[in-house]
Amino acid sequence: FLPPSAGGGGAGISAKDALGNDLFEKEYLTTHRVGDHSLAQGLKGDATYLIVKEDGTLEDFGLNAVCTHLGCVVPWSAPNNKFMCPCHGSQYSATGAVVRGPAPLPLALAHRTTDEAGTIIFSPWTETDFRTEGKPWWM
Ligand code: FES
Repeated sequence: FLPPSAGGGGAGISAKDALGNDLFEKEYLTTHRVGDHSLAQGLKGDATYLIVKEDGTLEDFGLNAVCTHLGCVVPWSAPNNKFMCPCHGSQYSATGAVVRGPAPLPLALAHRTTDEAGTIIFSPWTETDFRTEGKPWWM
């Protein structure tokens, strides 16, 4: 028996639904179709987008839904193919890059994988932010 990690660097956690149940990839993809952007509980309990790609598989990153301006949860707008913050009008591309301010920074990233049991896992993104080519601002 291995106790759960006390939150050390690099530890992954299972993505959870609103009731706190673990999410399983196979089951998830039967109810979430191509283009779906739905919120799951991610790292630190933050609302994090799970994204279903054009090929019907899960994107290998999750996007933290907290706006980097003043912290509103940013909804996905399918018709605009963007995340659009209702609070002060910031917009983010499908990968979470800022396309319109006042948001100063892209949406935070997490790695998204699936473990041997089929559980969807989020783990900390510590590498270069591929949207800015810079250091991840959230680390
Ligand atoms: Fe999102 Fe201000 S909190 S634009």
